[in-house]
Amino acid sequence: MASLPAPERASYLIDLLENHGQGDYIGESINQLEHSLQAAHQAQKSGARPDLILAALFHDIGQIIPLAATKEARMTLKNNSPENVGRVGHETIGAEFLRSLGFGQGVCRLVGSHVNAKRYLTAVNADYLDTLSPASKKSLEFQGGSFKGEELERFKHDPLRDEMVALRLWDDAAKVPDIEAVTPRAREYLDLVVQHLEGEGPDWL
Ligand SMILES: [Fe+2]
Repeated sequence: MASLPAPERASYLIDLLENHGQGDYIGESINQLEHSLQAAHQAQKSGARPDLILAALFHDIGQIIPLAATKEARMTLKNNSPENVGRVGHETIGAEFLRSLGFGQGVCRLVGSHVNAKRYLTAVNADYLDTLSPASKKSLEFQGGSFKGEELERFKHDPLRDEMVALRLWDDAAKVPDIEAVTPRAREYLDLVVQHLEGEGPDWL
């Protein structure tokens, strides 16, 4: 797949999002595609860098791609995660999948850490937990709960901490029903994906 020209890889990914994102976003009132598009739009409205917008757009790709699409995904299937909290490890599946398509280290790290960012935020901000949706609170239990001790320290000092937190907050805010008409569609990000895959955009890691 990585040997295909960037425009083909970009199209493949946008098609995946559009064709497989119609499924339920577990426990939420919008589907996976709309959730992903709203997260990307949140990033865009914040004036975020292109790589951050792409990380927001694809942060849940590990929930969306058919499980046969990656080796990592097949391994996770064996874990048999409870379907009502989504695929456990979807952030790692997504990061590996994007890496296999040629995405830069920064985007892959952000996608791979969006669950950890929730574990961090619930540890350092008591009010944050109250802002989470019931489904997100429930999945936190299966994701290891709030960070403590060494894990917390490591996240706190990660050079990408602020970007990871920003992505998490866009993710949390991307659950609004019935705003399709004002949310840019997946194809509008196609050029951005191509530019990234062609190495034209900055990757900060
Ligand atoms: Fe999400």
